[in-house]
Amino acid sequence: SRIVKLAVIPGDGIGREVIAEAERVLDAVTADSEVVFEKTTFSLGAGRFLETGDTLTDADLESIRAHDAILLGAVGGQPGDPRLKDANIERGLLLRLRFELDHYVNLRPSKLFAGASGPLANPGEIDFVVVREGTEGPYVGNGGSIRRGTPQEVANETSVNTAFGVERVVRYAFDLAERRSRRLTLVHKTNVLVHAGGMWKRIVDEVAAEHPDVAVDYLHVDAATIFLVTDPSRFDVIVTDNLFGDILTDLAGAVTGGIGLAASGNINPDGAFPSMFEPVHGSAPDIAGQQKADPTAAILSVAMLLEHLGLRDEAARVQRAVEQDIAAREGTRRTSEIGDAVIAGLQA
Ligand code: NAD
Ligand code: IPM
Ligand code: MN
Repeated sequence: SRIVKLAVIPGDGIGREVIAEAERVLDAVTADSEVVFEKTTFSLGAGRFLETGDTLTDADLESIRAHDAILLGAVGGQPGDPRLKDANIERGLLLRLRFELDHYVNLRPSKLFAGASGPLANPGEIDFVVVREGTEGPYVGNGGSIRRGTPQEVANETSVNTAFGVERVVRYAFDLAERRSRRLTLVHKTNVLVHAGGMWKRIVDEVAAEHPDVAVDYLHVDAATIFLVTDPSRFDVIVTDNLFGDILTDLAGAVTGGIGLAASGNINPDGAFPSMFEPVHGSAPDIAGQQKADPTAAILSVAMLLEHLGLRDEAARVQRAVEQDIAAREGTRRTSEIGDAVIAGLQA
């Protein structure tokens, strides 16, 4: 039988609660299949930092790198926790993994499932994917500050955009559009960010010439937020930079039934490094430890992971079980009850 080595990083807060359910679903869907998942759990995040002072050691990274794929919950402590003042868990752990493992495609699908209760009165059919660049932009950390603590303080964050980095993610987005509804929207802010925006636009135009059957559109990011609420069915594939993609995908989650349903993949399409699957949401300190979190995003991230590994049937079964569960929802349930319902749906 085929063996898949999976690194599991539950992380902090609701990350642990939702990953517990995601693992149960993974175990159930692979129980009678040819494939065997060998899981290694890594204790990483704010909790680990508070215990040992480590964020992500080189040894952790090497060990994670030796896996076929990664499943992550969420990392980050209580905002404002003084003990975490000098730790940047998000940068030192999550972004370090995305950068070191060259996750240049941050794939974030948004679909309004039947029965999901979103806030829009007339949502129409919502089914699009945000292809968020994952390794560049302002996330690179190429900034700095001087004269800190004085009235003359200067703080700069530089958005790093390379032609190489933009072209590869744009090519991925066009290939994806070819396999979907052949509509691609570039979102940027070219009216203000003329250098980066100009290069993104130019590269999209160049790659578009190789895809004459893909209808290409451009929106400034502020206008894109309008249309995500007023006319979300216009979108098929959205390609955008790291920061805009972060913001748009929380909004996209909110309009498609809540952030608790939004899954994502940090993909290294070249296959040189393990890809990493995680819910779009964070560790939600406001509801952590109370079994209030919706594990659906984590479970759908398992479906994306299975699909990525070529386990189509297993992925489809998880997807279907989640769709059935969403369609049948009523009342509030505990995190584990949603996991139970999805697992029951796998048998159907
Ligand atoms: P968040 O996504 O954790 O929470 C935002 C809101 O959404 C909260 O009200 C929360 O209760 C709710 N929510 C989130 N997930 C939910 C779920 N599955 N079910 C029901 N409700 C859910 O964002 P935040 O509050 O800005 O961040 C909290 C911490 O998480 C911070 O430390 C942040 O840096 C970190 N974070 C980590 C990741 C990650 O690990 N990938 C992603 C985002 C934020
Ligand atoms: C996400 C998160 C991360 C991001 C943070 C925690 C670094 O918000 O995965 O969307 O901004 O990418
Ligand atoms: Mn985010």
